[in-house]
Amino acid sequence: MRCHNAASISDSGQSDQSRVQWWSVDWMFVASIIPPMVTAAMPHAAEGATPAVAGSANCLIVDDEPSVRRSLSRTLQAQGFHCLEACSGRQALQVLEKTGEIPLIISDMKMPELDGMAFLEVVRRQFPDSSVIMLSGMSETTTAVDCLHLGAADFLLKPISLSELQARVSRALEKRALVLQNRFYQQHLEHQVQAQAQRIQELFLQGVQMLARALEAKDAYTRGHSMRVSQYAVATASRLGFTGQGLEGIRLGGELHDIGKIGTREAVLHKPTSLTPEEVREITELPALGERMLSPLAHESPDVLKIVRSHHERLDGRGFPDGLRGEKIPIEARIVAVADSFDAMTTRRPYREARPPVEAMGELRKVAGTQLDPEAVEAFVASYPDPSVLPIPA
Ligand SMILES: [Fe+2]
Repeated sequence: MRCHNAASISDSGQSDQSRVQWWSVDWMFVASIIPPMVTAAMPHAAEGATPAVAGSANCLIVDDEPSVRRSLSRTLQAQGFHCLEACSGRQALQVLEKTGEIPLIISDMKMPELDGMAFLEVVRRQFPDSSVIMLSGMSETTTAVDCLHLGAADFLLKPISLSELQARVSRALEKRALVLQNRFYQQHLEHQVQAQAQRIQELFLQGVQMLARALEAKDAYTRGHSMRVSQYAVATASRLGFTGQGLEGIRLGGELHDIGKIGTREAVLHKPTSLTPEEVREITELPALGERMLSPLAHESPDVLKIVRSHHERLDGRGFPDGLRGEKIPIEARIVAVADSFDAMTTRRPYREARPPVEAMGELRKVAGTQLDPEAVEAFVASYPDPSVLPIPA
C-alpha cells in the first residue's frame, strides 16, 4: 500500500498526525525484524529532552529541538516503534551506552556539545549495526555526501515529508536487515563448509588407512608394520620434544609412510635377489607416488606428506627420491626413518630371519650419522630401555 499525504515535520516540529497513514505492508515486515531492546533507566536529561526509560526501544531520536523530537517520536511510536530521545550527540551516546545498539537512529546535524557528524562517527565505530538517518535544515550536497561516506544510511532535509520519512526509514531498516541476514548466512555457510571439508578429509583418511591396513594384513611379512613404525616414531618424537599437532602428524605419517607401496608388485617388494634397474626405479618412485596419493591432506597435515616423501632419504644424501642431505631432510621423516629401519630389521623377511631388538639397536647406532639421524637414533634407543616391551611381531 502506498500512501500519498502532505504530512511533514519541520524545524518547528509541526506535523499533521491525523492525515498520516503511512504504515504499509513493507513497514510491518520491517518492524517485525527489529528486535525489541531492553533499556536501562537513564538519569533525567538536561534541556527537557525525554530521557531513556526502561522498556524496549528500537529507535533513538536525536535533536536539540524538543518539538522536532516529539513530533518524530509521536509519529514513529504510532507505527509501533518504541522511541528514546536525546537532545545532543553527547546525550545520545550516553543513552546508547546504557541500552547497547539501537536498530534505528535518526539524528539532527546541528546540535550543541557533539554535533551530528561527530556523533555519526562514534556510532559507526561503536555500534556499526545501527542504521543512522541524518537530518539537516541545510541543503548542502557536500554535507550529505560526507554523511553517507561516514556510513549514514540516509540523509533527509527538513521539513520532512512523512511519506518520505516512511520510505527512507523503511529502506534503511530493510538494508540493515539484509546486511545482518547476509552476515549470518555467510558465517553459517563458512562454518558449514569448514565442517564439511573436515568431514571429507576424515573420510578420505579413514579410507586410506583401511586400505593400507587391509593390504598390509594380506602379507605376513608386513602385517602390523605401519602401526609399529607409528608407535616407535611417536615414542622417539615425544622424547625429542614433539607435542600436540606435531606429534599427531608423526603418528599419522608413521601409519601411512608406506602408502605408496599400494599397487606395487609384491614380486618386486619382496624380491630376495638383486633388483633390476627397472625395479629399482619402481621402488624409488614409491615415496613420491605415496605423496601424490595423500595430496588431499596437504593443507591440514603437511607433516604427513613430508614423512611419506622423505623417509627413505639418507643423511649422506644417498637416499631417495630427492637425495636430500642432513637437515634438509625434514626431522619428521628422519624420525620415521629410524622407526622404519628398526622394524624392518626386527621383522622376518622371506630371505632372512628377524634380528633381536638389542642387535638391531646396535645396527641403528652404526649407521647413525651416515644413513640415520644420530639424535633420532639415540632418542629411539632411550625410549625403550627394556626392549622386551617392544611390540615385536611373533
Ligand atoms: Fe616401511
